[in-house]
Amino acid sequence: MTPSPCIVAGNWKMNKTVAEAKSWLARFLESYQPSPRVEVQVYPSFTALHTMALLASDRSIRVGGQNIHDEERGAYTGEISAVQLREAGAEVVLIGHSERRLHAGETDAMLARKLTAAIHAGLQPVLCVGENREDRQAQRHEDVVGLQIERGLAGWEPSAGIPLIIAYEPVWAIGTGMTATPQDAGAMHAHIRRRLEKLPVHIPEVRILYGGSVTPDNVAELFATPGIDGVLVGGASLDALGFLEIVRAAQRLR
Ligand code: 13P
Repeated sequence: MTPSPCIVAGNWKMNKTVAEAKSWLARFLESYQPSPRVEVQVYPSFTALHTMALLASDRSIRVGGQNIHDEERGAYTGEISAVQLREAGAEVVLIGHSERRLHAGETDAMLARKLTAAIHAGLQPVLCVGENREDRQAQRHEDVVGLQIERGLAGWEPSAGIPLIIAYEPVWAIGTGMTATPQDAGAMHAHIRRRLEKLPVHIPEVRILYGGSVTPDNVAELFATPGIDGVLVGGASLDALGFLEIVRAAQRLR
């Protein structure tokens, strides 16, 4: 069996107009050589998603959404459903990014419903988990992340047929320049795998990404760490050439 490719994903958050997204893509594609060992994903804002999906999908780049609502349709002003996102060209979707947990009050129960909605629409979910600084200082990071996994995956349907991706992003590492050490990230990834094994459902083929201040300078040591199946990059993905450097490092090391 061919091993699943590792993932280099760029989460643009609330950045880039459609024009800026197009020019990012043009710069990236000038030098990007796809490799079957590394899957590239980009998460633009909703406004640029359709354009990006049209321009990028035949160049081996998977485009994803940063959020969905858990209902398929209805009176939810300002929201976007999984079905709408899929139809706009998204193949993957972030569920429960810590910024949504923090700013939009998303709870694990909501995320479990979103995960189900994603799967029903044929979108591959990326469940985001991670502890905050206080949790880490109090040494309860493994419990916090373990509960996020357990509750977020409460509705997982074994028949889904869509492989799951988990992104471990410690909140204290996001946008701070303080990357988790490869040892800490690797230990948490191992903990997540142990926790997955204890779930009542068997979820095959889970890939676990690390996110939090990933840059071209620190990506090599992360890729050298067992159990890290890829990276979810925020700030450093906004620059096409910086992101390309990260992709190339992954291609060299995997
Ligand atoms: P930074 O890479 O900017 O720390 O952001 C990480 C992140 O939140 C990706 O989803």
